[in-house]
Amino acid sequence: MKRKKLTFRLPEDLIEQIESRALATDRDRTAVVIELLRLGLETEEEESPQEGFKNLSQQIKAVDHKLAQLTQAVQLNSGELVSSQALISKDFCRSEKTIDHQTSYVASRLQSPTVIESDSINNYNTGDEFEQRRQSVLAAMIGQQARVFDQVLSAYPDPICVLDRLGRFTYVNYAIALLFQSEQNPMLGKNWQELDLPPELMKPLDTQRKRVLMSRRNATLEVEYTSYQGSYQYEYTLSPILDANNSVEAIICIARDITERNQVQTALRESEAKYRNLFESAHDSVFIIDAETQRVLNANWNAARRLGYTHAELLSLSARDIETPAAAESNCEIITQLQTKGSIVYESSYQHKNGTATPVEISSGVIEYEGRLAIQSFVREISKRKQAEEKLRLLELAVFHANDAIVITKVDSPEPLDPQIVYVNSGFTKMTGYQPEEIIGKTPRILQGEKTNSTQKFKIKQALSKRQPVKAELINYRQDGSEFWVSLDIVPFANQEGHYTHFVAVQREITEQKQWELELQYSEKMFRTAVENMLNCLGIYSAVRDESNQIVDFKVKHLNLATCVCNNLTQEEQIGCSFGQLFPTELFEQFCLVVETGRPLMRESLIGDHTHSNKFMSPNSELRAAKLGDGFVATWRCCD
Ligand SMILES: Cc1cc2nc3c(=O)[nH]c(=O)nc-3n(C[C@H](O)[C@H](O)[C@H](O)COP(=O)(O)O)c2cc1C
Repeated sequence: MKRKKLTFRLPEDLIEQIESRALATDRDRTAVVIELLRLGLETEEEESPQEGFKNLSQQIKAVDHKLAQLTQAVQLNSGELVSSQALISKDFCRSEKTIDHQTSYVASRLQSPTVIESDSINNYNTGDEFEQRRQSVLAAMIGQQARVFDQVLSAYPDPICVLDRLGRFTYVNYAIALLFQSEQNPMLGKNWQELDLPPELMKPLDTQRKRVLMSRRNATLEVEYTSYQGSYQYEYTLSPILDANNSVEAIICIARDITERNQVQTALRESEAKYRNLFESAHDSVFIIDAETQRVLNANWNAARRLGYTHAELLSLSARDIETPAAAESNCEIITQLQTKGSIVYESSYQHKNGTATPVEISSGVIEYEGRLAIQSFVREISKRKQAEEKLRLLELAVFHANDAIVITKVDSPEPLDPQIVYVNSGFTKMTGYQPEEIIGKTPRILQGEKTNSTQKFKIKQALSKRQPVKAELINYRQDGSEFWVSLDIVPFANQEGHYTHFVAVQREITEQKQWELELQYSEKMFRTAVENMLNCLGIYSAVRDESNQIVDFKVKHLNLATCVCNNLTQEEQIGCSFGQLFPTELFEQFCLVVETGRPLMRESLIGDHTHSNKFMSPNSELRAAKLGDGFVATWRCCD
């Protein structure tokens, strides 16, 4: 074919399309223009079969070469293509099915035997015809393979592009176009520097690109890029594509989003640091013991200090060296439980370097430590707790067996002033007939009834609402309905934070005491009536003492009616009066003797001192006096 030179002026967008098509098919622009003209004019290419074959072979070779390099680069950077398809699902699930189908198509085609071989040579008139058919099928296959590969790479989640030696994009996948908010085709032919990347990204990328061009070796670098999608970290791998002369023809650039990986790594580092911190700063002793050999693989400083070893010494021991022989006996059972449950909490005892044993509580779990199965144990000394538990046990016993009834209620019961019983002792059961299981959860009000004094109930209610202690005496009813008197001593109890949580009541049956009191009241009443109604005068006097305990006076405490009549004075006028106002002074000494010695005084008659102007005491009165407390009671007959 004769070739002529023509000069056209084509529109810019057409030139761009021609250029990108030339880049995509690896031909020069003239070849693309000729092909397009031919297609437009529907003319056949006049080309000798040899030329056509040569061109085609070259194209096949070039495409094959690129495919091989791309495959290698993709596999090198991203592992198996098939496995990488799993990643695609996140952002590119729309194309997942197509990729699957097309990948298997490519795979089957790349494997041969090809379709051509199944096509019998007998169907063609000449060998040339067969060869032409073979070439066109091959060309179609390779074109198809290139398209499939383009789709696979486009569906790939990592940004992938190919740059020629001058840094122009000859291939970009969908991910990279998305990253730069563009389409794939418009990016082709553009120089990567036109992307307007920030200088901190531009500079290292350019350095690495130049290094790859010169060294023909892969280069990687990590960069952070903030796009409209947010800020991401990428690991860039630049791989050279070599031509037949082993010089770099292009660079394939694959970026992997490592934001998540970095975040995981940072979180891991932080978590490891936290663990180390926890391990060392833990107040408990922490041990890591090899599950198989029982050797101490690691322990914190507290563990060494408490057992009396240096840290290094402890790391040379085995679990058996730090357990008491008694604790070691239950080891097998503990290991079995650990194997089935994964973690357990149990009590044991550890042995100090000096041989003393300490009770401990251990919380153990199975972990992987430096590649082996290990048991991590947090150990807490519980000597104090054990002592407290023992004390508590004794106290509980004492409370339970106390003669008095003891009732504990919660403060925060559903109804605050109607507390629920949480504990009663055996004394309560003895007193009321209620078994603990019959009364726990109920209100103590269950014991009240018709004769329960409402003033006392109100007093209790008022005190409980103010969380104040209260004492009360009231009638309660046993389970069998019989009534009894009970004295209640209720005290609110606060927890360590100072919040009242419980009321504790000590209760005592006082039925007998109440009967005595009633009898006493009755006899007192009788006595008073008798005293008031007797004909003799009666007075009760209490001693007044000075600082040296000497009696200096007597004061009137009580005088009966007869005295008032005799003296012609009311009680009010006489109570509180001094001795001298009522008795002749010579009697003072005798009354003092009565009080100090306890000996009663009996005088037949008073020697009346007529010179004495005592208006209260008649001269012939009979006087009797007896000690009463720190005073005396005196009777005399009024002989007016
Ligand atoms: C710990 C505790 C024990 C109590 N034990 C009795 C009891 O044995 N007998 C009784 O009549 N009331 C007892 N009470 C008082 C009643 O439960 C109730 O608080 C009281 O009758 C005042 O409330 P009310 O007026 O609503 O009945 C007890 C209260 C508390 C907090």
